[in-house]
Amino acid sequence: MNMLAIVGSLRKNSYNLRLAKTIRERFGGEFDLRIADIGSLPHFNEDLEDGPPESVRTFRREIAAADGVFIITPEYNWSVPGVLKNALDWASRDDRPLDGKPVMVMGASNGVIGTLRCQLHLRQVLSSGGIQADVLPPAGNEVLIRSAGNKFNGEDGLLTDEKSLKSLDRKIGNFLGEIRKREA
Ligand SMILES: Cc1cc2nc3c(=O)[nH]c(=O)nc-3n(C[C@H](O)[C@H](O)[C@H](O)COP(=O)(O)O)c2cc1C
Repeated sequence: MNMLAIVGSLRKNSYNLRLAKTIRERFGGEFDLRIADIGSLPHFNEDLEDGPPESVRTFRREIAAADGVFIITPEYNWSVPGVLKNALDWASRDDRPLDGKPVMVMGASNGVIGTLRCQLHLRQVLSSGGIQADVLPPAGNEVLIRSAGNKFNGEDGLLTDEKSLKSLDRKIGNFLGEIRKREA
C-alpha cells in the first residue's frame, strides 16, 4: 500500500511530524508512507488555478496515487492551522483528488484535550462539497495525543509512550481494514 501523510505543522521538531515519522517506521512492513511538502504550496489564489505551480500539481498527484491519507495536525486557536487549510483548499479544486479518498485524522498537542476542537472543524471541512473525503468515523478511532511533551523521545525523537502506540496500532489497523474492504 502507498499512503500519504499531510502534516499541519511546518515546525522542524513538530510533534505531529514526529508522529508521521513514527507511523512510517512502525508500519513500514505494511505500507510506504510519503510525507507531503505542504510548506512549498503557494497561498491559494484563484488567479493561479489555470496554470498552478509544480508544487500544487505534485501535491494533487501524491493524493491521487495514495491508497489512503493521514492528516496529522496540531490545533491552532481552536481550529485547523492555516497552512493545512491552504493545502486542503488546493486539493478541493481541479481534479479534486480527495473526493472519496480514505482519510484518517489525528493530532498531537501539549494541551489536555489533544487537538479535539481542530479535529471537529477539520471533519467539517473534509465533508464539504469540494472535498468529500471518505473519513474514518471517529467512534473508537480518534487519535488525540495529549501532553505530547511527555510522550515523545527527547527534542526530536519518535513517539515512545506505550499506551499511545498500542492505541495507534489498533486504530490504524481499523483504517487499513476499511481501505482493504473498499479495494476488495
Ligand atoms: C498560533 C498557535 C495557536 C495555538 N493554539 C492552540 C490551541 O488552540 N490548542 C492547543 O491545544 N494548542 C495550541 N497551540 C499549541 C500547539 O499545540 C503546540 O505549539 C504544538 O506543539 C504544535 O504542534 P507541532 O509540535 O506539531 O508543531 C497553538 C500554537 C500556536 C503556534
